[in-house]
Parts: sequence; structure tokens; C-alpha cells
Amino acid sequence: MDKTMPQKKDHKFIELKNYMGALKKKANPQSRLIAVLHKTQELYGYLDREIMEHISEFMNIPSAHIWGVATFYHYFNLKPQGKYVISVCMGTACFVKGAELILNKLKKELKIDLGETTPDNLFTLKEARCLGACGLAPVVMVNGEIFGELDQKSIMGLIKTLNKNTEGGVS
Ligand code: FES
Repeated sequence: MDKTMPQKKDHKFIELKNYMGALKKKANPQSRLIAVLHKTQELYGYLDREIMEHISEFMNIPSAHIWGVATFYHYFNLKPQGKYVISVCMGTACFVKGAELILNKLKKELKIDLGETTPDNLFTLKEARCLGACGLAPVVMVNGEIFGELDQKSIMGLIKTLNKNTEGGVS
């Protein structure tokens, strides 16, 4: 029996296991940790603590080192993400055009702080540096899509639209 792997049989875990198995055949597999973390996040949306433990065992890397890497890079999510990840640009151009007002409005209306997710798992709130669309400032990005020239009213209009698109619940 393979003692180093969990009893989980879900397809995501099997894919991750196969991915790590392929890396282990290469030279210095431990140096591929970031690739494994990227793959984990791609599959699960965040770095699940239990899965991290299994990566530690399978790749023979101390879990403290894995967590050190995971927390060093802002790219990695350590908690489950909402269906819609809203990143408010706080770069200079957006800031001078009212990004902070938009961020505060979102915090107040969604009743969450930065890095948090609404209890219905619909929205996660983040901040970002320049998103490369300064001409449209202030800007937010929702799941990779840019929305610009926002104010406190239009950002709530966007939230309403996203809510409407999810009627029936989060899948
Ligand atoms: S500062 Fe916000 S897009 Fe550049």
C-alpha cells in the first residue's frame, strides 16, 4: 500500500499525484515545489492544508518549508476563494481617482475585509497593484476581466449583476 498518499480518490488528487510522480523522475525534484504548488492551486483554487501535508510526504519536503514558500508568494491562496474574485486596483492612477472609496464600499456592502470571502462563497475581496489599465481608472478585476471608470454606484451595479448571474446558488 502507498503509505505516503492519502486515501482520497477524487480526480483532482489523482491528477496532482500523477503530476508529482512525473516530476519525481526528473533531476532534483524538490526544486519543483513551486510548480507543484501552482498545479495544486490550479486544481483546487487554493492551497488546501491537508493536500500540502501529502505533498510534503510525497515530495519528501518538510511541510514548514512548503508553507514558507506558499506564504512568501502573494500569488498563492491559502484559503478557499469565492466564485468571483474581485481585485481592486490600488495603484497610483486608480488611487487618485477614488479606488479607496470603491474598496471601502465593497467592504461595507459585502461585509468582508481584504482577503476574505463572503459566507455564501460568492465574493472574495483583494487589492492589486497597477492592473495595466490606468486609462480606465479606477479599475477592478473580476476573475481576470477588467472593469473600469467605476464609482461607488457602478461597482454596486456590477455586484448586483454578478449576483443575478448566480441565482440558484454557487455551483
Ligand atoms: S493604477 Fe490601476 S490600472 Fe494602473
